[in-house]
Amino acid sequence: MAKIKTAFFCQNCGAQHAKWVGQCSSCKQWNTIVEEVVQKEEKKGWKSNSNSVKKASTPLRVSEITNEKEIRLDTQDQEFNRVLGGGLVPGSLTLLGGEPGIGKSTLLLQIALKLAYKTLYVSGEESQKQIKMRANRIHPNSENCFILTETKTQNIFQQIAALEPDLVVIDSIQTLHTDYIESAAGSISQIRESTAELIKFAKESSTPVILVGHITKDGTIAGPKILEHMVDTVLQFEGDRNYVYRILRSLKNRFGSTAELGIYEMQGSGLREVNNPSEVLISKNDEDLSGTAIAATVEGMRPLLIEIQALVSTAVYGTPQRSATGFNAKRLNMLLAVLEKRAGFKLAAKDVFLNITGGISVDDPAIDLAVLAAILSSNADIPIEKGTCFAAEVGLAGEIRPVQRVDQRILEAEKLGFTQIYVSKTNKIGLKNTSIQVLLVSKIEDVVSSLF
Ligand code: TYD
Ligand code: MG
Repeated sequence: MAKIKTAFFCQNCGAQHAKWVGQCSSCKQWNTIVEEVVQKEEKKGWKSNSNSVKKASTPLRVSEITNEKEIRLDTQDQEFNRVLGGGLVPGSLTLLGGEPGIGKSTLLLQIALKLAYKTLYVSGEESQKQIKMRANRIHPNSENCFILTETKTQNIFQQIAALEPDLVVIDSIQTLHTDYIESAAGSISQIRESTAELIKFAKESSTPVILVGHITKDGTIAGPKILEHMVDTVLQFEGDRNYVYRILRSLKNRFGSTAELGIYEMQGSGLREVNNPSEVLISKNDEDLSGTAIAATVEGMRPLLIEIQALVSTAVYGTPQRSATGFNAKRLNMLLAVLEKRAGFKLAAKDVFLNITGGISVDDPAIDLAVLAAILSSNADIPIEKGTCFAAEVGLAGEIRPVQRVDQRILEAEKLGFTQIYVSKTNKIGLKNTSIQVLLVSKIEDVVSSLF
């Protein structure tokens, strides 16, 4: 009988220890060490065969070779392509993380159904019937998408060898287990081993693989940190589950920029790509309402116009309340202090509530001026003129500071039909002949006198 080997792994960081200890010496977490069986046997994971290796390179006529450096698999989803940097790279491993119920399975199934290539969607979480029900809501007819409910990697590789798909989706990496490691599915050593087998398969057969990863309660992808090092691309799907908008970000990308961002809207029939986010984030109200201001922000590489709403009311209790949704509360307090000092507003006796519509959260300092304008507008109960937007940071001295990529913001505002935009006097503007009026301001006082 083969000798059973065990080792101790930290469930938080994946560090291996020779014996059980109360505190992990590498990440300093308590009570995270678990004994796992690591059986040393010859591995029968992905075995390369001549068939799959052949796929790696096929002869092409010189005229057929495109000028691009690498060939990419078009996912038929513009937002997903954009975040990946132009499509899936053959032989790459992509990890998609996100909170439960955010729509990871929906997104990947939708891509699998739309693709013109043969796709194998492996689910360890739902039955084939459940997936069929979901598929019916999204895109009922697809001849190229195959569903497999299986969690054992050896069986998955058998099916892959028979089917020879062009794309493999694994939902999720935490449900996989390989025969050659005894510990439970989802444990550190299982995740590491299954991922290593998948990498071997992907590289040898040039097939892109997408993995779904669960996240822990503090928002990081569950499993060893090493998982993120092993894969080529790490994507994060985020958003507020109570709102319809979802944002796809790239945290790591070996084949493209991490500044790109994809926006989706969750609908009854799956996720809809939002190609022009500004139009949906701004409510089209015909009435003039006080307390709202439009900010021109930049998320990733994309300019985005968002609506900021403020409500200022008399504080009924001793301590005034401050609440911010989608905006940093500390920054709100700072801006209020600036208003108090520089613009002479007695906000200490007022409750201030701030909200960014659409359930998105923004940390771009360029929305400062719009936040102040919304607060002032609500306080005075005077609506801000239609067609006005803002793109500037506010400093502690009440000065209006320049922001980066101001040209892009101005162009986006112009495209959406805005007639004037407030920016800092010190911002260098390269644009000429814009139909939008660019108002240069240097102090809060200038903005106040110009607006009200
Ligand atoms: P799901 O993809 O199962 O999330 P994850 O895999 O990240 O856990 O998404 C589940 C949610 O999406 C569920 O609450 C219902 C919603 N949904 C829709 O609103 N419309 C749809 O067409 C589908 C398929 C799901
Ligand atoms: Mg799921």
